[in-house]
Amino acid sequence: MILLFSFYRIVLAPLTRSRSYNNVPQPHAVLYYSQRATKGGLLITEAACVSDTAQGYPHMPGIWTKEQVEAWKPIVDAVHKKGGIFFCQIWHVGRVSTYDFQPNGQAPISSTDKGVTPGLDGVDWSPPRRLSKEEIPSIVNDFRLAARNAIEAGFDGVEIHAANGYLIEQFLKDQVNDRTDEYGGSLENRSRFALEIVEAVTNEIGSNRVGIRLSPYTDILDSVDSNPDALGLYLANELNNFDIVYLHVIEPRLDVNEEVHQGAEDQIPHSLLPMRKAFNNTFIAAGGYNRSKGNRAIAENYADMVAFGRLFLANPDLPKRFELDVPLNKYDRSTFYTSDPVVGYTDYPFLEQA
Ligand SMILES: Cc1cc2nc3c(=O)[nH]c(=O)nc-3n(C[C@H](O)[C@H](O)[C@H](O)COP(=O)(O)O)c2cc1C
Ligand SMILES: *[C@@H]1O[C@H](CO)[C@@H](O)[C@H](O)[C@H]1NC(C)=O
Ligand SMILES: *[C@@H]1O[C@H](CO)[C@@H](O)[C@H](O)[C@H]1NC(C)=O
Ligand SMILES: *[C@@H]1O[C@H](CO)[C@@H](O)[C@H](O)[C@H]1NC(C)=O
Repeated sequence: MILLFSFYRIVLAPLTRSRSYNNVPQPHAVLYYSQRATKGGLLITEAACVSDTAQGYPHMPGIWTKEQVEAWKPIVDAVHKKGGIFFCQIWHVGRVSTYDFQPNGQAPISSTDKGVTPGLDGVDWSPPRRLSKEEIPSIVNDFRLAARNAIEAGFDGVEIHAANGYLIEQFLKDQVNDRTDEYGGSLENRSRFALEIVEAVTNEIGSNRVGIRLSPYTDILDSVDSNPDALGLYLANELNNFDIVYLHVIEPRLDVNEEVHQGAEDQIPHSLLPMRKAFNNTFIAAGGYNRSKGNRAIAENYADMVAFGRLFLANPDLPKRFELDVPLNKYDRSTFYTSDPVVGYTDYPFLEQA
């Protein structure tokens, strides 16, 4: 068992950066990730597609071809040279896609044939096609193969992306999943797909190399559940059966388009506490954290580790700045998803340069 929190409590949250041309991780990612690596620090990669139907945004990295696996290797090596622990986030976007991103211009796949509201986030999302029950094992298998590939690339483990409105969450949440077979309806049925993936991945690479990310409370991309408390608690309990290394959960009411790091100090909602208490292994909280909120989460035993997204994106030496309690660089939203290999990516200054 990897005891993650015995190393370091500051985690790099998974952050899509849209700089992997033709789905192949690029050499500039070596610098980006190694800038953020520290001895014993856990880094989670940007979401990596498990197959050619898994994409819905430009320049996403993949982890399904030999070429992609080879391209990840120098990135993983660089992080390991600095003593970092590196997990690869594996995902499938499901219906959060358009014909342009799909093989042969086919419809994106989902739990449902209801689409994301066209125009939401400025994209004309294409209507999805509901997966048949018979097709589901092959998608589960794509996650299994992606996990195998991640280990082949040298990663210490994988994070199954079951959050933020993407394919796995399209099964989990009752306002999206409208199936009437064993993958829909009851909580147990809606969770079946996620848990089959967890089982396949743990069988393939070992439970001590598997984490998962959930966001029962968020409503990103029309992905809503009528009873997120029940969903989150059920999953936390079921996940114990697989003895996976960590559960990573996003706080409610998180809108990444809002500034949330400077609000009222008393706004740690503690909504994740039941999940944290139910889950037996390492618990990671994310969403709107800064130095003082993170310290409080750890001090109150609300989480074992805290993941930082936008602050870590803009501060390659975030752990050091937190340690010294010095000012942070501000993030530039306009370059989050632009494809430049340097600007807004590896050019955020370190403390001594600031
Ligand atoms: C530019 C950007 C890209 C993101 N990409 C991913 C991703 O690939 N996978 C994921 O699970 N979450 C992704 N997120 C969500 C973050 O991991 C995190 O949950 C969110 O930013 C809230 O944390 P923060 O307040 O510390 O930024 C992304 C967020 C941003 C701002
Ligand atoms: C759940 O799956 C079972 C089969 O495993 C099925 O009989 C049932 O109708 C499904 N729906 C609900 C709401 O439980
Ligand atoms: C999780 O921890 C609780 C409390 O220690 C224990 O009762 C339970 O058996 C554990 N669950 C699993 C699946 O290990
Ligand atoms: C962290 O955010 C809280 C509110 O969420 C704010 O009161 C506090 O000043 C912030 N701390 C730092 C170090 O920026």
